[in-house]
Amino acid sequence: MTMTTREQAIARDAADPLAPLRELFELPPGMIYLDGNSLGPLPRATPARLAQAITAEWGQGLIGSWNSAGWMELPRRIGDAIAPLIGSAIGQVVVADSTSVNLHKVLAAALRLAPPAQRRVILTEQENFPTDRYIAAETARMHGASLESCSAEGLDTALTSRPAVLLLTQVNYRTGAMHDMAAVTQAAHRVGTLVVWDLAHSAGAVPVDLLGASADFAVGCGYKFLNGGPGAPAFLWVHPRHADRAENPLPGWLGHAEPFDFTADYAPAPGVARFICGSPAVLSMTALECGVATLRAADAFGGMAAIRAKSLALTALFMERAAARCPGLRCVTPAARGSQVSFAREEGGYAIIRALITRGVIGDFRAADILRFGVTPLYTRFIDVWDAVEHLAEVLENGEWRQPRFAERLAVT
Ligand SMILES: Cc1ncc(COP(=O)(O)O)c(C=O)c1O
Repeated sequence: MTMTTREQAIARDAADPLAPLRELFELPPGMIYLDGNSLGPLPRATPARLAQAITAEWGQGLIGSWNSAGWMELPRRIGDAIAPLIGSAIGQVVVADSTSVNLHKVLAAALRLAPPAQRRVILTEQENFPTDRYIAAETARMHGASLESCSAEGLDTALTSRPAVLLLTQVNYRTGAMHDMAAVTQAAHRVGTLVVWDLAHSAGAVPVDLLGASADFAVGCGYKFLNGGPGAPAFLWVHPRHADRAENPLPGWLGHAEPFDFTADYAPAPGVARFICGSPAVLSMTALECGVATLRAADAFGGMAAIRAKSLALTALFMERAAARCPGLRCVTPAARGSQVSFAREEGGYAIIRALITRGVIGDFRAADILRFGVTPLYTRFIDVWDAVEHLAEVLENGEWRQPRFAERLAVT
């Protein structure tokens, strides 16, 4: 295999159709930001839009802005902007709450849709993100069911016991391994199992086709590839075949068919809107709306197909360079992957990431032993990847990471 040179990386950036989109983000000079898969950077449009929402809509419009500024529409309006990114039609997605809360809502709804005789088990992966496991275990318990786990390889065998619900994160947060959504959903449906997909590392990162896969429910977060800012609200999708039957276990007033009738008893809104619970977090949603619009600017440059092509090229370059320059790292990201590259390293993983961050290369560490680097084709350049691996190689070669200051654990890794 011929190695990519630094000059070739620069040439690839010059020919990149997505290159103009980098200008849409506020990126600190000199920083190589490979953490958009944890927190997307600030879109340049967001501060002014937020300032307007605060000073004009809140400051001057006050309560009237619920009508005049369309605040009440935010959950559906942003849902509609997200819809094409995840293979949904308009009117099938709402933005609300956090991913964890939405997981509870859709898992409970799915359990209640399952035939009573099959309502015994939620199946998930041992390696799923912890919140998915915690929420699934408790939601199952509340319904007299239990959580069972399998490995990705053991999925087909585990399905033979016909769980009520299968909960999977499409792209694994540690390794970046990606499930074949259509194939897995089909296998689950063959045994009468409903499927809930967590798209936290998929939405805006890889093309997703929920309707094409005939999935049942999906959730995902707004702060990673959707650029909604720290703690941005999450989204929730329900297949239209379930949307008018599924029950929200948190039936709040804003999921009611007529909230302003203030009736004593709950009557769900038609469709996915019943999964809205309480008042939308207007300022956070305003920021998320800017973040999604920034991502959707890519529609004019080839959209998710172009993003995916560049993401695969960036991650391939990362793997190629790391294999050549960092023999002390073991790549754990397979060919079927999302938009990240991860390495396992028994010794010093956390300190290596801290040393890199000090050099301005931002990745993250996921316990117990994973160094994780996310690429975001809207602003990550080939030269960024090339240079990041050089920094990584130097940190490993010169033992820089062994400095005691890099071993000190911060609260957020
Ligand atoms: C796969 C996955 N699910 C859920 C979450 C957490 O979601 P939230 O904090 O929005 O509840 C994360 C956070 O990184 C995640 O990676």
